[in-house]
Amino acid sequence: EGTPPQGITVPPWYRVGISAAGLRTAMLLQKWGIPYDVLEASDRPGGRIFTYKFVPDPQVSPAGKHDYYDVGPMRYPHNEANEATFALFEELGLTPKLDKYVFSNPDGVMFFNGKRATVSVTGGPGDHFDDVQGVDQKYINMTATDLHGSTVYGVDACTSIAFDGFRKALVDNPEQGWEKLMQYDWASTRAYLAREGPEFPFTGGYDQALSEVGYQAYESHRYHYCLHLAPAPSQSILDSLEFDDPSQESVEWKCIEGGTEVLAKAMVDSLTTKPKCNHQVSSIEGPILLTPNECFPNSSFSTHSEWQHNIAFPFMKVDVVGTGVQIYSHVVSSVPFANLSMINTDDVKMTYAQRQAIRSLTYGPSVKVAIKFKSRWWEQNGQNLKGGSSYTDRPIRVVVYPSYGIGEDGPGVLIVSYTWTQDALRVGSLIKNPDWSQQLNPKRNHPPSEELMLQRIYQDLSTLHNVPIQQLKDDTLDYHAFNWYANPYTMGAFALFGPGQFSTIYKSVIQPTARGRFHFAGEAASVHHAWIAGALDSATRVVNEILQLDFPEHLPKFQEEHGISVAFSDEQQAKKQFTKGMFAMELEEAEIRAA
Ligand code: PHE
Repeated sequence: EGTPPQGITVPPWYRVGISAAGLRTAMLLQKWGIPYDVLEASDRPGGRIFTYKFVPDPQVSPAGKHDYYDVGPMRYPHNEANEATFALFEELGLTPKLDKYVFSNPDGVMFFNGKRATVSVTGGPGDHFDDVQGVDQKYINMTATDLHGSTVYGVDACTSIAFDGFRKALVDNPEQGWEKLMQYDWASTRAYLAREGPEFPFTGGYDQALSEVGYQAYESHRYHYCLHLAPAPSQSILDSLEFDDPSQESVEWKCIEGGTEVLAKAMVDSLTTKPKCNHQVSSIEGPILLTPNECFPNSSFSTHSEWQHNIAFPFMKVDVVGTGVQIYSHVVSSVPFANLSMINTDDVKMTYAQRQAIRSLTYGPSVKVAIKFKSRWWEQNGQNLKGGSSYTDRPIRVVVYPSYGIGEDGPGVLIVSYTWTQDALRVGSLIKNPDWSQQLNPKRNHPPSEELMLQRIYQDLSTLHNVPIQQLKDDTLDYHAFNWYANPYTMGAFALFGPGQFSTIYKSVIQPTARGRFHFAGEAASVHHAWIAGALDSATRVVNEILQLDFPEHLPKFQEEHGISVAFSDEQQAKKQFTKGMFAMELEEAEIRAA
C-alpha cells in the first residue's frame, strides 16, 4: 500500500522540526520526501506509548513470559473511530502481532455498595443501589432501548435517553451532529444532565451514588457520562462513540503482543532520520524572513545554482537545550499543551485563542498500578478472570486482567488499579513517580506512602476476589505505579475538554499559526481524545497543512492516499483552510516577501 510520490523537489535547506512523539508526522513527511528532525525531550521516543517491563532478579523476581504492562495506551477497538490505528498496524506489518483484547468478561467482579456481583448479572434494574437512601424508585425501574435495540436499565437507561440522540446524529450526519452537540457545549456533563436529563436522579446524597453507578455502567461503555461529570457533554459523547459505536453490532478489541512499545519501535524503525532524544526545546520563534545563506552559512547551498539563496524565506527558529538554535521551514508541536506552555512561544505569531488553548485546554489525570505476582492467580482456582475487568467503588476502582499470556504458568502482571479523575489524583499523591524510562530494581525500598497504597490495594483485591491478603502479599514479586500528571514529559494523561472548549478553542488548534509554519499535533488537537487514532489524525492534518502551503501541487495526491483526516467540525474548518484560509496566508507571505 502507498506509492511514493514522484517529482517532489525540496529546496536543500528545507527541514521540518517535530517535537516529541510526532512519529507519524515524520513517517508521512519521509514518504513525501520532506526532511525532518524529531526533537524528543526525554530519553526515549514514543511519547505516551509506554510499556513498562519488570526487571527480573534471580532471587526476588524470576522472569515471566509476559513481564510487562502498558502504562499508556493498551487497547484498540476496531471501529470507525480507530480505523487510522488499524491502518497503521497494517502499514507497519504489525497485524500478526495483534492479540485479542478481552474488554468485557462476564465473570468480572462488580463490587459496589458492599455487595459483590459479577458483570454477567449486573445491568438489570437497581442492582447494588436499591437500598441507598434517596434513590428514587422511578430511576431504579427506568428502562430504555439503546441504539443497538437492547433494553437498558437504571443509569444506562437515563444516559441512553439523555445522549443517544446526539450519538445517533453524529453517526448519521457528522456535520449536523456536531452542530447539535455544540448547542450544549456551554454545559458540563453534569449540568446538562441536571437540566435536560430524563428526571435524572440528582437529588440530595444521590450524586455520590450516581458516580458509583457510573463505574458500574463502565462495563456497558457508558460510564463516561456519570464518571466524568465535569467535562463537556461533547467530550463525554465523543468518548462514548469510541467505546460503543452504535453503527457496529460487535467490535473486536485488540492489544499488541509485547505491548504498545512494539508500535513505537516499528514507527521509529521506519524512519531514516532517527528521533533525537534528550533534545528539550526551550523556545520557538517565527516566522522570520531569512535567506538560506544566512541560515546555513557553512552549507554548500550556494553552489546549487537552481536555488535562490539570497532571497528571504520564512523560517522558524527552535532553541534546543545544549544543542543551540535549529532552523526549520515548519515546526510541528506534538507535545501535550501543558508541555508547550513551558516552552517560550512569545515570538511565535499566534492568535489569542491559540494562546488560550495552550494555557487552558483540560487534560485528565490517570494512574495505573501493576503488580507482578508469582502466578496468574486470577485465572486459577475458579476465578476464571481471563482478560476483562472488575469494577468497584473502593479506591482501586478498576482491575484489568491481562489479555495476553492467558493460561501461562509462572509469574504474571496484573493491572491492580486503573483510575481517572479525582480517584487518580488521590492514588497519584501516594506515588513517588519513577522516571518513565527507568527500570526499577525489585529489591528497592518502597517509600512509606507507596506502602500505604499497596496496603489499600491488597485490601481491595482481597475483598473483590475473596483471596486472603497475606496470600497476595506472599505472591508479590514486584510492582510499578505511574501517575501521568506527575510526569514532567506529559503533565497529564490525555485531553478531556471542559465546557466550552470544543466550541470556542478547538477550532483554533486544528489550524496552523505563524503564517502556516507552526502546527499543533497530538491527540488533543483531534476529536479522538485519549486514543492513538487522534494523534494519527492530527499528523495527517499537519502534513496536509505543510503541503498546502509549500507544495500545493502534491496535495491532491496526498489527500487521495491519506485523506484530510478531519472529523465532525474539522470538516468545515478544513474546507476553509484548504481553500480560502491558507490562500490568504500565502498572500500574506507574498506581501512580506515583497516588502
Ligand atoms: N483510551 C484509554 C482507555 O481505553 C483512555 C480513555 C479513558 C479514553 C477514558 C476515554 C475515556 O482507557
